[in-house]
Amino acid sequence: MIQAKNIHKYYGDLQVLNGVNLQINTGEIVSIVGASGAGKTTLLHILGTLDKASVKADSQLLINNTNITTLKDKALAKFRNEHIGFIFQFHQLLPEFTAIENVCLPAFIKGTKKTDAEKRAKELLDFLGLSHRYNHKPNELSGGEQQRVAVARALINNPELIFADEPSGNLDSESADNLHNLFFKLRDEFGQTFVIVTHNEDLANMADRKLVMVDGNIID
Ligand SMILES: Nc1ncnc2c1ncn2[C@@H]1O[C@H](COP(=O)(O)OP(=O)(O)OP(=O)(O)O)[C@@H](O)[C@H]1O
Ligand SMILES: [Mg+2]
Repeated sequence: MIQAKNIHKYYGDLQVLNGVNLQINTGEIVSIVGASGAGKTTLLHILGTLDKASVKADSQLLINNTNITTLKDKALAKFRNEHIGFIFQFHQLLPEFTAIENVCLPAFIKGTKKTDAEKRAKELLDFLGLSHRYNHKPNELSGGEQQRVAVARALINNPELIFADEPSGNLDSESADNLHNLFFKLRDEFGQTFVIVTHNEDLANMADRKLVMVDGNIID
């Protein structure tokens, strides 16, 4: 699903990633752990095509056999919209929109018809236990509910690959456990691949594979 070779990232003179090599298989749940500042979010954003790696002759990023480094902006945005879902530490829902509307946004960007998008959004919200909250705005939802709406939004276009950065960082332990179990349920039901950056040890250890980042690289 993901093949990354010799990924570097510099901010001016500061080297944040120094030659990351990584292979993640379809249907795998991989956790990434490491100290603050190790480069986890930077790596996740590059793998998720939200950010670009610094150019090196022999670096490569393949997702689903698509060579990401050669895609132009518009093609890249389309690829991301159709194949990748993101779940952030702070849910990043739009405050003026209801749960349903927030979930539908990536589908509208893709060009899905309103009735089809809403049908799918309702299915997802039902699946996530939010049938009774379709028309609530983010500030009318609890933290765990907001995060589940964000999960539904990440899933609406049926992405094969989901990136999560500290998804349960702002949840109480019960909501966090529920969210973590949900990731495994989704993988089991829909076969999605998850890459999850987390400081939560339980979640990190539940994963099929735990990668440890130190100073801009993954150690064995
Ligand atoms: N835009 C930027 N410009 C300069 N330096 C940056 C930029 N973004 C990140 N950094 C630096 O890169 C390093 C890695 O940041 P990153 O956000 O990837 O860390 P992290 O492992 O996700 O940490 P945390 O666990 O605290 O979220 C940090 O030292 C950070 O200060
Ligand atoms: Mg981070």
